[in-house]
Amino acid sequence: MRIEPLTFPAPGGGALVPSTTRGGTAVRPGRPGGSPQAGRPGSPGRPGPAAVAAPAGFSLLDSLAARTADLSHLADVLIDCVQGGASVGWVKAPTTAAATAWWSAFLADPDHRTWVGRDDSGRIVATASLALTSKDNGTHRAEVVKLLVHRQARGNRFAPGLMATIERFARAEGRSLLTLDTETGSLAESLYRRWGWTEVGAVPGFARVAGGALVSTTVFYKQLAAR
Ligand SMILES: CC(C)(COP(=O)(O)OP(=O)(O)OC[C@H]1O[C@@H](n2cnc3c(N)ncnc32)[C@H](O)[C@@H]1OP(=O)(O)O)[C@@H](O)C(=O)NCCC(=O)NCCS
Repeated sequence: MRIEPLTFPAPGGGALVPSTTRGGTAVRPGRPGGSPQAGRPGSPGRPGPAAVAAPAGFSLLDSLAARTADLSHLADVLIDCVQGGASVGWVKAPTTAAATAWWSAFLADPDHRTWVGRDDSGRIVATASLALTSKDNGTHRAEVVKLLVHRQARGNRFAPGLMATIERFARAEGRSLLTLDTETGSLAESLYRRWGWTEVGAVPGFARVAGGALVSTTVFYKQLAAR
């Protein structure tokens, strides 16, 4: 199996670096536009101190050749996030088979680019994707989707690192406008504001959550200045 030979060095600096290794360079995720920070103790609601060792950097998964193990890890991350209450497309956590099948189809879409963060053992514990717009009038834009960090890996700056990586890729690819949506009132919503995203507004009753209630989603965009 082969992984796309592109590895992204530490977020916030450097150019795309061709690489033949699949695990990425040994860098830690960092704050977008800021300095890396060591992992923090878990906050209330987390499963305790991070059970995951220092992140090992980010890599772009080959959309057609993700290894079986990678698919299994991605499925675990998705299931864990849904079980933790994240509204990311599922009301109830999918089975491992369903989650694996979903990732297989997602990765096979030629308009999707997926990055992963791994722990020191090489296990995928975090991921985020870009859905490139292929419409003739939208080749300058893309949507950020499925920013997911396993609960045991939270607090290690995977999310800001992945977002910085995605933004750098988007700029390099001439994608100057990014969009996303996220559950209104969620932690992610507050993070996107802090990370310079502009809120468009909320769509009421957008998604069903466990228990049957409908919750709002907040739509954001970010314009990326050319560098
Ligand atoms: C939102 C999410 C991606 C954050 O991932 P993460 O890698 O754990 O993020 P980190 O904690 O390392 O860092 C991000 C920031 O969030 C803050 N943060 C993390 N958990 C927090 C909490 N429970 N309360 C308040 N702030 C928190 C951190 O302090 C950090 O802030 P800083 O940049 O000012 O230092 C993660 O919680 C997640 O996967 N949630 C479920 C899936 C989801 O909702 N995805 C978004 C879909 S659009």
